[in-house]
Amino acid sequence: MDQAKKLRDAVAHQKASRPIKVIAVTSGKGGVGKTQVVSNLALALRAKKQDVLIFDGDMGLANIDIVYNISPPYNLKHLIDGTKKIDEVLFKGPDGVMILPAASGIQELTTLSDSNKVALIDQLDQLEGKFDIVLIDTGAGISDNVMYLNSAAQSVVVVVTPEPTSITDAYALMKVMSTRYGEKNFQIITNQVKNDAEAKTIFNALLNATDQFLDSVQLWHLHSFTYDEKVRQAITRQQPMIKFDKDGPIAKGYVELANKIISLETNQQKGGMQFFLKQALMSR
Ligand SMILES: Nc1ncnc2c1ncn2[C@@H]1O[C@H](COP(=O)(O)OP(=O)(O)O)[C@@H](O)[C@H]1O
Ligand SMILES: [Mg+2]
Repeated sequence: MDQAKKLRDAVAHQKASRPIKVIAVTSGKGGVGKTQVVSNLALALRAKKQDVLIFDGDMGLANIDIVYNISPPYNLKHLIDGTKKIDEVLFKGPDGVMILPAASGIQELTTLSDSNKVALIDQLDQLEGKFDIVLIDTGAGISDNVMYLNSAAQSVVVVVTPEPTSITDAYALMKVMSTRYGEKNFQIITNQVKNDAEAKTIFNALLNATDQFLDSVQLWHLHSFTYDEKVRQAITRQQPMIKFDKDGPIAKGYVELANKIISLETNQQKGGMQFFLKQALMSR
């Protein structure tokens, strides 16, 4: 191979090797397993040498801190008020997962003053090119914060459990996302199910409803996790589930899910961090 071609290939590879994936993990109803998914998936992705950032977007419930047993000194609020820089706020969690801790007491990101927004974007822009995958742990429901984070992400993962309200709330969330924000693709994770049949029933219920009532919305059944008593034990011990029960079915599931996420084609037209932030902060 001639040198020039090698160089061209290297450059092409370099560019292609850093397309960032920005994935929101969300739900209609709270307490379904978003934080479980984000915290364990992040570790499974780290094991596959991915550089992962968790954006804890659940203002108020800093669940990631509990699951990882960490207490980051600074958070998003310090970025917004300009008292800390991004490298001071980013917290290195287990296995090198990086975390942007949530600010409690922030009502809506979109209602921040323009100068606060500019300060935040300025800091977060510096993350461009530093990560392979950004996982956003959003709050539940259809508040503005959740909607903006979701609509700015390249892919939206909706976690749903067998509870009827979880299913109807997931539908409600997808309805708002599709009609108001034009999001047409949703990756569904069924969680806390008894077996595959129950997972399929839930997925089909969502599929029937979206096919019937929502225009050109597409759903994929990304993954399913069974109900496992050990999840609660892991939380009590403040250990991530994939470490607490590392040979169990849930841990194995996260290895599979990590592979799927690595090969998932996200909407790259939405661009990377810059677009994400500007969308999340500037909409309306
Ligand atoms: N696969 C599972 N099996 C058993 N319990 C689970 C499972 N996933 C989640 N849970 C339970 O649900 C609770 C809420 O999970 P969490 O990830 O904090 O939800 P969210 O972030 O959506 O509010 C956990 O504390 C745990 O007790
Ligand atoms: Mg949570």
